[in-house]
Amino acid sequence: MKHFASSLNKKNKFLILGCGFSGSFFAKTIRKLGYTALTSSRSENKDPNSFVFNSDKGVIPDKKTFDGVTHILSCIPPDKNGKDPVLGSLKNKLKSLSLEWIGYLSTTGVYGNTKGDWVSENDPPKPCQKRSHKRLNCEKEWIESGLPAQIFRLPGIYGPGRSTFEAIRNKKIRVISKKNQVFSRIHVADISNAIIYLLHNKNSLKFHKIINIADDEPCSQLEVIQYCYDLLGLRMPKPILFEDAKEELSPIAQSFWMENRRVSNKLLCETLGYKLIYKNYKIGLKNCYLNS
Ligand SMILES: NC(=O)c1ccc[n+]([C@@H]2O[C@H](COP(=O)([O-])OP(=O)(O)OC[C@H]3O[C@@H](n4cnc5c(N)ncnc54)[C@H](OP(=O)(O)O)[C@@H]3O)[C@@H](O)[C@H]2O)c1
Repeated sequence: MKHFASSLNKKNKFLILGCGFSGSFFAKTIRKLGYTALTSSRSENKDPNSFVFNSDKGVIPDKKTFDGVTHILSCIPPDKNGKDPVLGSLKNKLKSLSLEWIGYLSTTGVYGNTKGDWVSENDPPKPCQKRSHKRLNCEKEWIESGLPAQIFRLPGIYGPGRSTFEAIRNKKIRVISKKNQVFSRIHVADISNAIIYLLHNKNSLKFHKIINIADDEPCSQLEVIQYCYDLLGLRMPKPILFEDAKEELSPIAQSFWMENRRVSNKLLCETLGYKLIYKNYKIGLKNCYLNS
């Protein structure tokens, strides 16, 4: 295979807007590779590489934060009106920079309910939930912004510190069964790695505005929970039928069960050649088990 020079270089500076679960994993990974990364948070903290950005309070980063920035990753969800908080506060600032790339973490919720069928980037979005309409609106804002934006659609994110193990340990687990219901998921390390892979190979790969990052094996939540109980050497409680559990679930938890889809990663993993670290929940959860 021909090797192309990486399109990243050590002078690149990353701003990670929204340093939550995925943002902090990305920051850690990119720094390990020798790149500079500053991260935003809504409140002051002691981390010297962190700055404050809070769109709700109109607190925006100072000029110095943007010096030399070449790459931005936004991990911030839509605001309550369905507008993108970053574009709402910083669009003109971003346009004044010499940015090479902006990544936006979106969700596969924009595809809506496919009743268990596979769905790919070629399928038109059909959001069902209000929050997914808001998300689609943010994607549209990014695409129409004139900025070099790339959108990553993500299913349920898990990883060390945020997985079914925590739900079991904190006694927040609900063992629910719903016939033929599947979920797609992605390990947080694969989000970072896939993005870095695409950035490294940006000069040789065709640019796609929208890319799904999902693992190979959508499956029922019950299988995942059973696997975690097995790893812990504990007995899984008897599953409750969704119809019986429904009333007790919060509206948001209920809404997740109303959508059933298998998210395809063919564009990322076949066309673009990314190799997943955690291609299914078993490998990914073993990693969580060993690191939590
Ligand atoms: N969790 C999932 O399973 C999942 C699945 C698919 C897609 N997504 C989406 O993918 C993205 C990353 O997910 P995640 O779970 O890693 O996110 P997360 O841990 O919830 O982090 C979200 C970040 O956004 C920041 N933020 C929120 N509102 C803000 C505002 N108004 N101004 C400035 N910053 C704001 C938060 O700041 P603070 O650090 O100050 O709280 C936090 O750092 C999110 O957009 C999420 O909705 C999540």
